[in-house]
Amino acid sequence: MPRFPASSSTNRSLSAGVFSAVAERVRHYSGPAYRLHIGDTWREPLAAAMAESQRTADLPHLHTYSPVHGEPPLLDAIVRRIKKRTGRTLDRGAVQVTAGATGALSVLCQTLLDPGDEVLLPAPFWPLIRGIIASRGAVPVQVPLFDRLRSPGFDLERALEQAITPRTVAIYVNSPHNPTGVILDASEAAVIARVARRHDLWVLCDEVYEELWLGDAPHEPLWSRPDLFDRTIAVHSMSKGYGLAGARVGYLHGPPEVVGAVRAVHTYQVYGAARPMQLGAARALDEGDAWLAEARTLYRDAAQATARTLGVPTPAGGTFLFFDARPWLGGAADAEPLLLRCVDEGVLLTPGAASGDAYPTWVRVCFTSVPPDQLSEALARLGGVLAAMAPAPTAGGAA
Ligand SMILES: Cc1ncc(COP(=O)(O)O)c(C=O)c1O
Repeated sequence: MPRFPASSSTNRSLSAGVFSAVAERVRHYSGPAYRLHIGDTWREPLAAAMAESQRTADLPHLHTYSPVHGEPPLLDAIVRRIKKRTGRTLDRGAVQVTAGATGALSVLCQTLLDPGDEVLLPAPFWPLIRGIIASRGAVPVQVPLFDRLRSPGFDLERALEQAITPRTVAIYVNSPHNPTGVILDASEAAVIARVARRHDLWVLCDEVYEELWLGDAPHEPLWSRPDLFDRTIAVHSMSKGYGLAGARVGYLHGPPEVVGAVRAVHTYQVYGAARPMQLGAARALDEGDAWLAEARTLYRDAAQATARTLGVPTPAGGTFLFFDARPWLGGAADAEPLLLRCVDEGVLLTPGAASGDAYPTWVRVCFTSVPPDQLSEALARLGGVLAAMAPAPTAGGAA
């Protein structure tokens, strides 16, 4: 049946941007802007990893096609990095270089899912993942979880079990987490493993913040646990830890047979990730430890300052804080009044609704997207807005 001029019904609901009163106000704002709504870093990457450090004089044929699998020096660097981080030796064939983690998850969903399949999507979540699953014609099943994980009475296993149907094929897990900064602990990971094994689910482990733990020691990645390793595809990125978001380089690894199938899909959808930036990424993985340690120190300070302003605990990892703005909303059904006041102060924040249907009154703040002096100014402005919108004390004195 002819379709012109419409696009496919699967993809009609996707949009490249979100129209909202907040976005409209941002368009008309002309003062200095503090872009705390973007999950990126103000830091320049390691010099050896920069685009301008990849030179044809040193690297002949730099601009020819890269192998679909990935550049050999990057594949070697990935295997070395994973070994150093977890002690596991990956088979090179079980690794696929991708165009960022977005490209990895997109190709992975295309490989594993059929239209109508359901994927458990613990909420709140990284906004793009919902669309990535939906663009395959599959159904993202939101399971509110990360904001209540350690609250008395919350039962993680029951929450996951209740969302499972005969159509459930996979669960997506992101830890350290965007947007709450939670790092799942061993007992929570064990619950996920138990549920996945009981229902024979694939586990899609989104590891893009793996290097950005803000406590004293790194955590054990979920995918490397013996009870998850055989059913997990882990997705990594050079964007977050290494400050290379514009390079569009990531990678995934998992059981060799499925990674072979991913590679076939990658051939037809992407072919290969950008060759010069794959070579830069290899340098970052091999030589970036000091850069990373410095990033963690700077980000930890930024996280603490942001948490103080909001009066919430410092996140365990990642680059965001996520808070329920209800106390400042005067009964409004969503966070728009606060977001609009912030735009007038030049402070741009993300509406929680982008991270799930259960979060209309929540707000996400990225604490790594502007340098420390600008973050201080942005937090002073945000603190001013919160003070101005704080509820008046009641007669009994409690606010
Ligand atoms: C949880 C999560 N997964 C994946 C991505 C995508 O990363 P990349 O830049 O490698 O595509 C992001 C980016 O913000 C993210 O927050």
